[in-house]
Amino acid sequence: MSASTTADPRLDGRAVKRIVYDEASIARRVGELGQAITADYPDGPLLVLGLLKGSFIFVSDLVRQIRRPLQVDFVVASSYGSAMASSGTVQMVYDPETDLRGKHIILAEDIVDSGRTISVLWDLLAQREPRSLAICALLHKHRPEHLRHPVRYVGFDAPSEFLVGYGLDHAENYRHLPYIASLQ
Ligand code: IMP
Ligand code: MG
Repeated sequence: MSASTTADPRLDGRAVKRIVYDEASIARRVGELGQAITADYPDGPLLVLGLLKGSFIFVSDLVRQIRRPLQVDFVVASSYGSAMASSGTVQMVYDPETDLRGKHIILAEDIVDSGRTISVLWDLLAQREPRSLAICALLHKHRPEHLRHPVRYVGFDAPSEFLVGYGLDHAENYRHLPYIASLQ
């Protein structure tokens, strides 16, 4: 794989170690997640809430695989600095404009690592009295030190490597790769 990945003009000559999930595998899995969500939510208003920035490609593909009425919105969360991250300080810097009360909410996340971000967001969103709240993560590293809530939908059980592409970044680069690659 490395020969073809370094030849990828999107990488600016830098090598990625390997492609972990190629475009076809991602498309297949996102299709399956869409089918599962379609089957699990037979009635009631559904809001897919993407956590920016990392989920922007995942959400755009996922919602097109859900065959029922829904709305889409996004949240932006910020955790302040590495020193403060350990205290779990996560704030919503963009709050969804949609009213969450009485709706089924699916919080879509690119990757769950420690689970801290998603846990804090869960508590903030639960205060808005949604009809139900579920987490859908494309990738899950299963290192849930801070995860107090189940991740209902998981795309892939990810290796504990640093992954980029399909929305995931390293210093804001690589988000536009159509595949998911490991940098380590
Ligand atoms: P958590 O709060 O530790 O679960 O962190 C989750 C966030 O960290 C994700 O939304 C990503 O922005 C970032 N992150 C964690 N692991 C990776 C990775 O392997 N590649 C890119 N970003 C990551
Ligand atoms: Mg990031």
